[in-house]
Amino acid sequence: MTILHIDSSTQGDASVTRDLTAYAVGKMTGEKVERLDLVADPIPHLVGRPEANAYVEQLKAADTIVIGAPTYNFTVSTQLKAWIDRVAVAGETFRYTENGPEGLLRDKRVIVMIASGGVYEEGHSFEHNQSYLRAFFQFLGLEAEFVIANGVAMGEEARAKAITEAKAKIDKIAASREFA
Ligand SMILES: Cc1cc2nc3c(=O)[nH]c(=O)nc-3n(C[C@H](O)[C@H](O)[C@H](O)COP(=O)(O)O)c2cc1C
Repeated sequence: MTILHIDSSTQGDASVTRDLTAYAVGKMTGEKVERLDLVADPIPHLVGRPEANAYVEQLKAADTIVIGAPTYNFTVSTQLKAWIDRVAVAGETFRYTENGPEGLLRDKRVIVMIASGGVYEEGHSFEHNQSYLRAFFQFLGLEAEFVIANGVAMGEEARAKAITEAKAKIDKIAASREFA
């Protein structure tokens, strides 16, 4: 079983999502871990149409994908978007049929750790991170699960509470079902 551990926060040691993804991956013992730090090793902006590439192969080979997805300017970081632009490849991860698009990925667990300075529930007009990633992975054929730390810029107490609750949710996920 292979875990793909992706981080995309630009905030280094102060990052909430890096803390949460490391905590989650730490709970997954005995698995092979593939690591993508999209800030240390940034992917250039896509120019032209995407074709089959190593990021697609790495995603296809993973059984569990753990992603840190900080909210920057209402949506995912530009670093994570650059990865998304590489792995959405027609004929590889999705295809178009006469009935519309069809995801080609199956049987993978996607766990997304989101941190936001404010609190925006899915459906709020400012919320374009969780809803975007949910739609993106559905497009590829996968149902993402989310661990959310909201309101981390709303004071020390709110930040600590959000992180503690997020870690408790990770504990629950780890206890209820094997990660990988
Ligand atoms: C460039 C930048 C843009 C941000 N934009 C938003 C935003 O649109 N909405 C929000 O709620 N928080 C915003 N924040 C706060 C972050 O969501 C918060 O710092 C969170 O912890 C990010 O995850 P990270 O700590 O893993 O980087 C922004 C932070 C930065 C650095």
